[in-house]
Amino acid sequence: MLPEKVEQMLNDQIQKEFYSAYLYLSMSAYLEEKNLKGYAHWFKIQAQEERDHALIIYNYVWAAGGRVKLQAIQQPPVEFDGVEGVLTETLAHEQYVTQSINEIVEAAMEARDLKTVQMLQWFIEEQVEEEDNARNNIDQYRLFGTDPKGLFMLDREMGQRVYTVPAPLANAN
Ligand code: FEO
Repeated sequence: MLPEKVEQMLNDQIQKEFYSAYLYLSMSAYLEEKNLKGYAHWFKIQAQEERDHALIIYNYVWAAGGRVKLQAIQQPPVEFDGVEGVLTETLAHEQYVTQSINEIVEAAMEARDLKTVQMLQWFIEEQVEEEDNARNNIDQYRLFGTDPKGLFMLDREMGQRVYTVPAPLANAN
């Protein structure tokens, strides 16, 4: 069984992760339209990862004896303030997700729900990586992306990103 409050927060987090997928896919569409196919590819993979995050929590809620209740996903923005706008919004969104994960950890600790605390360790580490990637993308863009040749090279590099199944899903049945 899961403490009621923790179960609710995990269900809310499933919604936030699916929204993240939707937001990043919308960023991908925006970048595709700007003909930045490498950046569009990077954000499409980011969207896949977010869907994976939702599924990791989805699987966990059932495994822990809780009940998944899916919620509506709001429409993401469709316009952004150029590439830099996309990248800075990504960092802000990841910081928001980190905060949200931290709040669930706090609630789970308060309820002495150690299995949820343990499950969320993976997310805490993942958020460090997510924020680091977001910051690196901003730094690289500011250094090279404002020049057309630099942007061309960066876009090619972003296009090299390869999707890998995250460990908790790879190990799931
Ligand atoms: Fe699911 Fe980007 O955090």
